[in-house]
Amino acid sequence: MIRKARIEDIKQIQEMINAFAKQDLMLPRSLNELYENLRDFWVAEDKKKVVGCAALHISWDNLAEVKSVAVARNQQKKGFGRILVSACLNEAKEMGAKKVFVLTYKPEYFKKFGFKRVKHADLPHKIWAECINCCKFPNCQEIALLKTL
Ligand SMILES: CC(C)(COP(=O)(O)OP(=O)(O)OC[C@H]1O[C@@H](n2cnc3c(N)ncnc32)[C@H](O)[C@@H]1OP(=O)(O)O)[C@@H](O)C(=O)NCCC(=O)NCCS
Repeated sequence: MIRKARIEDIKQIQEMINAFAKQDLMLPRSLNELYENLRDFWVAEDKKKVVGCAALHISWDNLAEVKSVAVARNQQKKGFGRILVSACLNEAKEMGAKKVFVLTYKPEYFKKFGFKRVKHADLPHKIWAECINCCKFPNCQEIALLKTL
């Protein structure tokens, strides 16, 4: 049901993420960013189609980020999101991360996985370097949450 992403999945991943981004539900991702970070991605597959994705990105000493969590509208509330986020959290543990953060417009969703709200300033400066390239910079409404593994 879920597996690590492959090159051939990237266009479907981008279509799904960017459709939600147009509705301001998450941030858009460029093809370049997706190809370069392909190894971070998990996908959920149904009838050979990508119906969900989530990524685990290693950020810093002991710290990882869960990013780009999306499930196709017609496949939501079936548990795909839960399985994808859990895969990222297990992977983070296996990689030796001690904490995982998420920046999201859906804090309530991530609280179900044990993430707790933190101030943006509580996260290392390094992660803000990415923000300058974001289309929302400097008016970011994303909420930061952190989970200790
Ligand atoms: C948020 C999203 C990834 C959830 O995926 P999903 O596959 O529908 O989620 P699941 O079926 O695994 O739901 C897991 C649990 O979270 C709950 N849940 C689902 N969406 C939720 C939301 N928006 N807020 C709070 N809880 C939510 C479900 O009710 C379920 O709870 P339960 O286990 O107690 O019944 C999906 O709705 C989505 O892709 N939304 C658009 C993109 C987006 O907002 N991404 C968020 C992060 S950037």
